[in-house]
Amino acid sequence: MTQKVALITGAARGIGLATSKLMLERGWQVAMLDRDSAGLSTATEGLEEAAPFVCDVSIAEQVEETLPAILSKFGRLDAVVNNAGVAEFGPIEETDFALWRRVMATNLDGIFLVSQAALPALRETRGSIVNIGSISGLRASTLRVAYGTSKAAVIQLTKQQAAELGEHGIRANCVCPGPVWTNMAKSVHSQEIIDAYHDAIPLNRYGTETEIAEVIAFLCSDQASYVTGQVVASDGGFDSTGVGLPALRK
Ligand SMILES: NC(=O)c1ccc[n+]([C@@H]2O[C@H](COP(=O)([O-])OP(=O)(O)OC[C@H]3O[C@@H](n4cnc5c(N)ncnc54)[C@H](O)[C@@H]3O)[C@@H](O)[C@H]2O)c1
Repeated sequence: MTQKVALITGAARGIGLATSKLMLERGWQVAMLDRDSAGLSTATEGLEEAAPFVCDVSIAEQVEETLPAILSKFGRLDAVVNNAGVAEFGPIEETDFALWRRVMATNLDGIFLVSQAALPALRETRGSIVNIGSISGLRASTLRVAYGTSKAAVIQLTKQQAAELGEHGIRANCVCPGPVWTNMAKSVHSQEIIDAYHDAIPLNRYGTETEIAEVIAFLCSDQASYVTGQVVASDGGFDSTGVGLPALRK
């Protein structure tokens, strides 16, 4: 049987690393891409069937060089998981243009660039794209003018990709995680925020990296062969709830 190949961005840690490990377990070969060279070396240690690629997805020239390197190593590409993301939060008035651009450059430009560079290879395999959005792209909240807007744009970009690439047999879907206890969340969630999330999420807890990875792996797989243009919230029910009024539950 032909071994399928996935490119996973932001694979040095967190959700990207968990997804890489799960897909390796499921028999895929994985091109693990990240801009953190040291983190990527540690992450790929001992992972047979994986190879590291140091690249910043927000820099077009680096993406243009990296995709051919991946194809030359593995010979094919069946799935692209656009997971690399940055979270920088702040009030609208204090969000300067440099912060806005940093967030858009990785979260939105990066997905556009990597997906576009991967298209010729994905056409050959009739492969699939999974973009990682966020609950913050589905529900607005304070301090997320850049992050939330970038993630809402990722949702629309996914639908654009699905609409246009379907005729080549390429599927595109978006996974929107709720809060997951990764380095990213640790850097921005205080204990008070953690408690408030527990209160507002119907399942009353954060998700795990593996729970998000399972949804991503499904969408990459043949089991999802008739699923495209979809936005799947893996969020403990957070997106389904309306106004969270703790007082009503007490
Ligand atoms: N953790 C959460 O609570 C949460 C919730 C919703 C959505 N998400 C999304 O899930 C994805 C993964 O998040 P995570 O929590 O695992 O984050 P993380 O910070 O733990 O890991 C992100 C990885 O992406 C890499 N990266 C960042 N910018 C890059 C760039 N320009 N080029 C290449 N690599 C880059 C980092 O080096 C890091 O290894 C992100 O898109 C994030 O927005 C996370």
